[in-house]
Amino acid sequence: MKIFPALTSLALGAFISTSAAADDAAMIEAGAETFSTYCATCHGNNLESSGQTFDLRKLRASERGRFQNSVTKGKNQMPPWQGVLSEDEIESVWRYIRANAYEK
Ligand code: HEC
Repeated sequence: MKIFPALTSLALGAFISTSAAADDAAMIEAGAETFSTYCATCHGNNLESSGQTFDLRKLRASERGRFQNSVTKGKNQMPPWQGVLSEDEIESVWRYIRANAYEK
């Protein structure tokens, strides 16, 4: 049965990528919840900005550092979130924003 090892690794590969996708989906889902608890009042439900605060969907993939900085330190009318949100929560909100960004 020469074909068997190939099939096994195919099946294993499919399993690994499916569980990675499930992890991603779980992160994004957690980020959506954190966002709706802490951010939606100012940044809009489901990231739909009213235009009065920064539209988070404008953040580009390269702006992870900017995001981290503004979120932990705050900016003008926005309070700092350091000590309120864990690093994991900040990362999950970032993933949620990225999943809905204008420019993927
Ligand atoms: C009390 C209202 C308020 C809440 C709650 C709030 N923000 Fe903001 N946020 C603002 C305002 C106002 C700005 C625009 C700041 C400016 O540029 O003057 C802003 C800007 C930002 C920016 C862009 C800053 C930059 O680099 O220009 C990010 C990123 C951000 N908010 C993330 C978040 C996240 C994540 C949350 C939830 C954890 C959150 N905000 C909750 C009011 C809020």
